[in-house]
Amino acid sequence: MRAILYRSYGPPDVLAMASVRRPAPKADEVLVRIHATSVTTADCRARSLDMPSGFGLLGRLMFGLKRPRRAVLGAEFAGIVEAVGARVDFFAPGDRVFAFPGAAFGGYADYAVISQSAAIALAPDTMALDEAVALSFGGATALDFLRGKGRIAPGDRVLIVGASGSVGSAAVQLARAFGAHVTATASPGKLAMVRGLGAEAVIDHTIEDPARARETYDIILDTSGTATYARYGASLKPGGRLLLAAADLWQILGALAARKTGGRKAIAGYAPERAEDLRFLADLATRGRFRPFVDRRFPLARAADAHRYFESALRSGNVVLTVDPA
Ligand SMILES: NC(=O)c1ccc[n+]([C@@H]2O[C@H](COP(=O)([O-])OP(=O)(O)OC[C@H]3O[C@@H](n4cnc5c(N)ncnc54)[C@H](OP(=O)(O)O)[C@@H]3O)[C@@H](O)[C@H]2O)c1
Repeated sequence: MRAILYRSYGPPDVLAMASVRRPAPKADEVLVRIHATSVTTADCRARSLDMPSGFGLLGRLMFGLKRPRRAVLGAEFAGIVEAVGARVDFFAPGDRVFAFPGAAFGGYADYAVISQSAAIALAPDTMALDEAVALSFGGATALDFLRGKGRIAPGDRVLIVGASGSVGSAAVQLARAFGAHVTATASPGKLAMVRGLGAEAVIDHTIEDPARARETYDIILDTSGTATYARYGASLKPGGRLLLAAADLWQILGALAARKTGGRKAIAGYAPERAEDLRFLADLATRGRFRPFVDRRFPLARAADAHRYFESALRSGNVVLTVDPA
């Protein structure tokens, strides 16, 4: 089968098409014929080893000390179940599925195997696979931060710092679906897009510092890596939560050490890949409450161009790679 491989860390040019052996499903695994995968910040970090400050060693431990341990990227994929292992009972050949292997990767290929107990779910009937593929990375991260770590509730006032990216564009829609009032920040060319996703108020982060506005929030979710507790603590209501999805080590340590009053909190951490979250996101999508924002699609063979575009300032939301039949 065809796969995009990378054998060394570096710029998008390290990605190249190759022919590799098609995987066979083990007893508890599902073999998926992939229709679409995507470019995510996880793929780009694993390709470039460009990690948040203080996490360089962790990156090498995760992705491979000297060279990449897993040659096939692709943190999320969608496709049709081709075959199942002997002990698989949740899925059958022909099922339309989407999956979120995360740092286990594997989506940049014609086929991938994934355990039936990993993050895999039926794709919404109402959504094409080259759209459903982008439900998981941004959606599951936004869901874990807003609902899991942030305990979002109806009526909350929520600020999304960095609302135009993959996580942010999902967070705006999810926060609205949870009944919150959403203020969103983005660069000027992307303000209309975040408004279109449901943000009630928008802030151009290139001319206005959201931390300087008088408004206070129950939840501030930062996806941009620019937030510190020192900067945003005063913008939190009593009991408010600053959710640091993109913090470097120093921001996390600073937030832990900061004196917090009135029950305010700063929360960082990892958003895990869970099948139940994918089912929740698929249900929201079916009910028309969440639709991943897909900026551009590229064929898998142009993965390097897709990475270049993803890393440019032009890109908003998600970039999908379509996998044509071999
Ligand atoms: N903790 C976890 O488990 C977890 C999981 C997934 C992702 N992440 C991390 O979360 C972050 C976001 O991921 P993503 O895929 O959503 O990234 P992304 O698509 O690149 O989005 C980044 C966002 O940050 C904004 N931004 C960039 N520079 C800014 C600045 N100087 N001031 C304000 N906003 C700025 C961008 O807005 P404009 O383009 O409009 O400027 C964009 O909305 C990444 O660092 C990723 O590694 C963490």
